[in-house]
Amino acid sequence: MLEPRPLPHLELVDGRLCLSGADGTVCVDWVGGTMGFRRTRGGGRGQAVARAVGMKSANNNPRVVDLTTGLGRDAFVLSTLGCTVLAVERQPEVFQLLQDGLRRALQDEETLVALGDRLQLLQADALALLLKWPAGPIADFHPDVLYLDPMHPPRKKSALPRKEMRLFQSLVGADLDQEQLLAAALATGVQRVVVKRPSSAAPLALGVSSCILGKTTRFDVYRPRSSPSYSFDQDC
Ligand SMILES: C[S@@+](CC[C@H](N)C(=O)[O-])C[C@H]1O[C@@H](n2cnc3c(N)ncnc32)[C@H](O)[C@@H]1O
Repeated sequence: MLEPRPLPHLELVDGRLCLSGADGTVCVDWVGGTMGFRRTRGGGRGQAVARAVGMKSANNNPRVVDLTTGLGRDAFVLSTLGCTVLAVERQPEVFQLLQDGLRRALQDEETLVALGDRLQLLQADALALLLKWPAGPIADFHPDVLYLDPMHPPRKKSALPRKEMRLFQSLVGADLDQEQLLAAALATGVQRVVVKRPSSAAPLALGVSSCILGKTTRFDVYRPRSSPSYSFDQDC
């Protein structure tokens, strides 16, 4: 008889809180690995995510609410580049991973200096909070930018996503309310709403006013206060 596959669960691995399951282990690590490399040699404000939130010049540090924080890589990058970020995540286990990752990041001297006190975590459903606008913690934060990176649609190609991504997806699901989340973000009338998408996926909604291509992803920028100009980058 086949052994049952272990359900995703949280456990401590080498002092780090991790999500473990049949497909491997996922933790938040902003100090070493890819994120450490990205902080020290990742291209700074030239990175697509930074351009997408409008960090054109050295003194433009927008206040960003990350409505779908996940493992917090985008929130961390934006905070270390100078944005003040409110990072919202609704999934309780993922939120615990974030808290543990932030705790360890602040124990590392270089990461602490890079991050300052610019990253704040909030466990909540961002859609429920946006529906309270202009009241509630998102409005009280006075954001310049609302940022969304919901779970990506399933790939058309036969290749399965990486094992860690499968584990993460098994916990978080498909973010089926992503269109409502974008609609609620646009309805706030903030200066800029940014949606991260796979480069080949259609925009989540009409009205994209510009877009920025990363390596495998695209950032669709909406400017709810101005009428759409459809000034796409050449490649979008
Ligand atoms: C693709 S992941 C985000 C990855 C992230 N940008 C990163 O850099 O690691 C999407 C996350 O958004 C969260 N999420 C989706 N809808 C949400 C909502 N309405 N409120 C809060 N979190 C949400 C999901 O639980 C999931 O953890």
